[in-house]
Amino acid sequence: MLALPLVGGCNGSTTTPEPEPDAGSQGEPDIAAGRDVFLRSCALCHALGDAQAVGTLGPDLDQLRPTAERVRRQVRTGGGAMPPNIVEGQQAEDVAAYVAEVAGRAGDDDG
Ligand code: HEC
Repeated sequence: MLALPLVGGCNGSTTTPEPEPDAGSQGEPDIAAGRDVFLRSCALCHALGDAQAVGTLGPDLDQLRPTAERVRRQVRTGGGAMPPNIVEGQQAEDVAAYVAEVAGRAGDDDG
């Protein structure tokens, strides 16, 4: 059995294997799962305070503060140096919801 790390507290290189696709409600974005997706697939190129991501190839998402729809579209179609369909399906939903939820919020206590 593999124990999924519940807290991504490690700074730096966590090489987590594929996550188990949770047999949850499909279509419901899972913010926690989205964070995991972000760390694996996006943090390389994007800065996002909540994920302690410091990538600089793409825009700083804390500054951009994209909506979930905007993230979803970008992930699907790519653009610039960002390849399309890095993640798909539920993972794309999750990461879009996650980014929209946390972008610009690191250190901000406003709800
Ligand atoms: C290989 C590097 C790379 C990876 C990996 C990457 N991006 Fe990007 N991303 C970019 C670049 C470069 C841009 C700027 C694209 C442009 O200028 O058109 C960008 C742009 C964006 C934008 C802004 C779109 C807009 O409307 O302006 C969002 C949102 C985004 N990425 C989200 C993500 C998410 C979510 C992931 C992970 C699933 C991800 N990116 C993975 C490089 C990357």
